[in-house]
Parts: sequence; structure tokens; C-alpha cells
Amino acid sequence: MINMAQSVIDSAKRLHSPAKFLGDNYNSIYSKNKNKFYWGIKPYKLVTDSAKLLPNSSKVLDLGCGEGKNSFYLAKMGFGINSVDVSGVGIKKLQDFAEKEGLMIEAQVSDAGLFLNNCENFDAVFCINMLQFIKQKNRIIKKMKSRTSHHGLNVIASFAAENEKKKKMALAKGRYLFDTGELKERYKDWKILFYEEKLGKWETHGKTRHRHLTIRMIAQKP
Ligand SMILES: C[S@@+](CC[C@H](N)C(=O)[O-])C[C@H]1O[C@@H](n2cnc3c(N)ncnc32)[C@H](O)[C@@H]1O
Repeated sequence: MINMAQSVIDSAKRLHSPAKFLGDNYNSIYSKNKNKFYWGIKPYKLVTDSAKLLPNSSKVLDLGCGEGKNSFYLAKMGFGINSVDVSGVGIKKLQDFAEKEGLMIEAQVSDAGLFLNNCENFDAVFCINMLQFIKQKNRIIKKMKSRTSHHGLNVIASFAAENEKKKKMALAKGRYLFDTGELKERYKDWKILFYEEKLGKWETHGKTRHRHLTIRMIAQKP
């Protein structure tokens, strides 16, 4: 009963202010262990693979950077990097670690869409496992594309739903999954360097054991 009441309250908060709800939610997740990174410190393979395609002095954006595991890698590679997340706790952990390691990262607490309204262009925009939280994905993808320099990259990882039932179940938890093939379609005017939809490994974080239909894409602007 308490769980049900809590989930109704959460849905109301999520509807009222999605970015604030997510920021608060991730603040509490990232606060649980101050000395540990919830998502670990190892960069995502798609990030390390795509970094190899970028010229040395590239300027890159890590959108929805969390506590910064991918930003740390990109900074170590020598790229000029901006990192953005709605979680103030995530950004603080990123800044503390970057300072300790002597890494140059321009980090900011912001909603991704708002940041993109008013930023410079980047040679690559990384958006790793964030788009499933965004209802108006098309709008944010358009902004990511327009903020990318010519021949620059968009590197995206997110989740898709195999069928309407899974999509609805995810929606009840505030997740907006792509349809299969949808992300690729949104980038049909770019060169797709890599695209994969694949059932991921079983995961045990959160309440239930689960696995996602993951989408990973590297696309290059003409
Ligand atoms: C699953 S975590 C992934 C974090 C990081 N990209 C990584 O791979 O470790 C998703 C992150 O997206 C952030 N996020 C969700 N919606 C956002 C939004 N509208 N603007 C900025 N960040 C957002 C969350 O706060 C969270 O840190």
C-alpha cells in the first residue's frame, strides 16, 4: 500500500517537473556512497571506440554525464570537455575527482535541453543512457544535431522496447523507450558509422533483476 502511494506521489512529481524529479532521484542514488561511483569508473565501450575517431583537439560534450566516468576518460584523452547533468551531487563528485586527478572538465548542473539552447558547437556530443528519461526525445535530438560541428559525431546509447507492452511498462516508471529502428531513422540524414540494437546482460541494480534492449549508435554529421 505504501509502495503504491509512493509511486502515485512519484508520478505526480515526475509529471510536474521531470528534470527536477530526476535530479532529486539521482542525487539520492549518488549520495549513497560518497567514496564510490554508482556507475563505476570504467568508461563505456562505445565512448572509447568513438573517441578513436576524433581529432586530438576536439571539443566534446557529455550530456547526462552522471558522476563522470565517461567525462574522465575523454578528459584524459586530451579533449576539451563540457559535462552536464541535472544531478548536483553527480556533478560535485565529478568535480572533486577531476580536481584530485588534475583533469580539466567544465562541469555544469543543468537540464540537457536548456543547456543545448544556449551553448557553443561541439565536435562530438556523447549522450550515454540519458535519452530514455526524456519525453520529447525528438526535440532534444534536433538540438544535439544542430550543436554538432560539420563532420562531428553524436554518440548515443539508450534503450528500445521490443513491443508496446514493454513500452507501456517502462512509461509507468517514467522511461520513454525508443521503438526499434527509431533512433537510426532520426539520423537518416547523417552517416551512420555504427548502429546496434541488442539485448543487454542481466542487471541487478534497482529493485528487480532486469535486462534492456540496448541501442548504441555513432553517427557523423555531413
Ligand atoms: C543512467 S545515468 C548515466 C550517467 C552517465 N552517462 C554514465 O554513463 O555513467 C543517467 C543520467 O542522466 C541524467 N539526466 C536525466 N535526465 C536529464 C536531463 N534532462 N538533463 C540532464 N541530465 C539528465 C541523470 O541525472 C543521470 O545522471
